[in-house]
Amino acid sequence: MAEIEPFLARFEEELRRVAVADSPFVTDAATHLIAAGGKRFRPLLVFLASSFGGEVDQSRLLKAALVMELTHVASLYHDDVMDEADVRRAAPSANSRWGNSIAILAGDYLFAKASILVADLGTEYVRIQAETFTRLVQGQINETRGPVDDQPRLDHYLKVLSDKTGSLIAASALFGGMVAGVPAEWLDALAAYGEEVGLVFQLSDDLIDITSDATGKTPGTDLREGVPTLPTLLLERSTDPADQPLKDLLAKDLSSDEALAEVLAGLRANKVIDQARAEVRRHADLAKAHLAPLPEGEVKDQLIRVCDDLVDRTT
Ligand code: IPE
Ligand code: IPE
Ligand code: MG
Ligand code: MG
Repeated sequence: MAEIEPFLARFEEELRRVAVADSPFVTDAATHLIAAGGKRFRPLLVFLASSFGGEVDQSRLLKAALVMELTHVASLYHDDVMDEADVRRAAPSANSRWGNSIAILAGDYLFAKASILVADLGTEYVRIQAETFTRLVQGQINETRGPVDDQPRLDHYLKVLSDKTGSLIAASALFGGMVAGVPAEWLDALAAYGEEVGLVFQLSDDLIDITSDATGKTPGTDLREGVPTLPTLLLERSTDPADQPLKDLLAKDLSSDEALAEVLAGLRANKVIDQARAEVRRHADLAKAHLAPLPEGEVKDQLIRVCDDLVDRTT
């Protein structure tokens, strides 16, 4: 398996270069979140998945990773507008710095940059990226709309997570395998693994939105926005009378910092956190099981470690 550090170093360089625009202001707005950092989880998966192939064309590998991260960052610009988030990647969100219009357009700009790069990869990649984005957007819309008719709230939540996050993470693993020319059976396994890992990723992200103060985002944003997540859905289902005061608190207006802090403390001390973590682990095990058709070795071990790290992560 090739070394990952040189790849990631080149990736960082190119990511900043590709976002440069015709004017300093647009460059500033478009590189704002890129420069603020991020885990680069999707490029990591592109790289790992490509490591199942033999000789890999480095320029195509780099492009595939850039397309995935640019699509992701573009979605963050838009997501922060939707969620009225003030902080992202431990920096002021684009919307809080320049207002919603600039944030939305900077996201569009980055998405267009991703489209230019994906065109170089070929029609099949363009189709997959477009299908991925249609799922991502539907996930965001369905989250905003909430469950309709008598759709169970938990089913709705899991479908939203698969669409808004699983889709792009699945595409990342798939793109990595595709640029490396791996067999079709392995591509299917990589896509299925990525889809489930994406679910695990968002489940754990929602969990640490409640449990951690060190995510580079404002804790409790989902609670404040009234977006249900696994811990709150589990609490809703609880028949334990001792949970009633916390349920009542959760139903109140959480716009004041005091009210939010009280609910956060209550949830952190509640058994739903452990129950939610167990569910994250269950899905992480499902993700690992999808790796069965892939060859044993260092690459597979790394993909297994990705699952374990997501269960244990605190930031
Ligand atoms: C944030 O994604 C949005 C989610 C899908 C949870 P990441 O957690 O990958 O964000 P960065 O890229 O590290 O900032
Ligand atoms: C982000 O969802 C998903 C996408 C950007 C598509 P969230 O709203 O849950 O993510 P964070 O917590 O803001 O990163
Ligand atoms: Mg958000
Ligand atoms: Mg959101």
